[in-house]
Amino acid sequence: MNQHLKAVKITDKVYWVGAIDWTMRDFHGYETRRGSTYNAYLVIGEKPILIDTVKAQFKDELLTRIASVTDPKRIQYIISNHTEMDHSGCLPELIDLVKPEKVFASVNGVDALNEHFKFNQEILPMKDGDTMQLAGLKFTTLEARMLHWPDSMFTYLVDEKMLFSSDAFGMHLASSERFDDEIDQSVLEYEAAKYYANIILLYSPIVLKTLERISKLGIELKMIAPDHGPVWRKNIKRALELYKKWAEQKPTKKAVVVYDTMWQSTGKMAKAVSDGLTTAGISNKVMKLREDTRADVATELLEAGALIVGSPTLNNNIFPTLADMLTYVKGLRFKNKIAAVFGSYGWSGEANKHLREMLEAMKMPVVGEVQSKYVPSPEVLDQCFALGGQVADKLKEICRNGGAA
Ligand code: FEO
Repeated sequence: MNQHLKAVKITDKVYWVGAIDWTMRDFHGYETRRGSTYNAYLVIGEKPILIDTVKAQFKDELLTRIASVTDPKRIQYIISNHTEMDHSGCLPELIDLVKPEKVFASVNGVDALNEHFKFNQEILPMKDGDTMQLAGLKFTTLEARMLHWPDSMFTYLVDEKMLFSSDAFGMHLASSERFDDEIDQSVLEYEAAKYYANIILLYSPIVLKTLERISKLGIELKMIAPDHGPVWRKNIKRALELYKKWAEQKPTKKAVVVYDTMWQSTGKMAKAVSDGLTTAGISNKVMKLREDTRADVATELLEAGALIVGSPTLNNNIFPTLADMLTYVKGLRFKNKIAAVFGSYGWSGEANKHLREMLEAMKMPVVGEVQSKYVPSPEVLDQCFALGGQVADKLKEICRNGGAA
């Protein structure tokens, strides 16, 4: 064990006792350039209470940080907010070691935990809306089904006005800092957006309902403590506003141009489309797959109104990186986006048709397309420029009629 690892004091009663995963670069298919943290929190009441654990291989890091505050065997209660194994991975071993009096999870969490692990102790349900006294402190349970799994719940520590929000409001960001205001704000918001787009977006209707519920219950939030990344203490209002904006998915005057290319023909077309958008006053981002990842594309798309996709025809089909990206984006179920397609071909030229079909299946209406045989001529590049303008006009019209920008 590394005895240098210490808990970090969050409030008089709460310590961060999680683990920092500096080298993690892939979270089930979502590329994570900045690593991550698995946050666990030690709450000191009359007896210690542990909220969540960490990935199995970080168990010693968790135990060492707890031991810097108290003997882990003194923990009386464990609350598991979420079953996914980045938070529950060492729960069975921890229970065997600590032998807590009670272990809690949501109603769905009890089943999910038992379907993952074999426990030598019963897991008890915490019901939605219940407030209970543990070790002299008051905890309220808020079910947060599908944020991120059916078992997910938030736990509100009434005494500290602190919301333990599980995956929600989290981000994959390994850092030595533990609070939002200690981190560069552009990095903070970018990573929060990336996490939202790749993990939470699909459940946006539930996000809106949860935000409304928190507001209606009049829950005062002094801190939001998620299971990944920093604790929000200064920018709470901003975090709530961002979640509302991302969940609403209103179209904006921004387009994302995503392509791959074999001999730079589709690449030249992408640049011409971008020039058309820029000239028409539409902010845009050009992304080449194999340089940018599917997770990067999802992040940029979060606040965009249009997805413009370019692919060469390869073996009568689209380029494999486009198939990967579109399958992923389809699963996230983005709303309120328009689309356009372009691409070069040598002799058969099926790529545009396949792209169109995939985008229409994702409920992204295709407003235009351009195709080039082999290398794009100046006339074809003019058509690509015009395609950018066409998407721009459509976006402006949509935004005039109720978009966000
Ligand atoms: Fe961080 Fe859904 O687990």
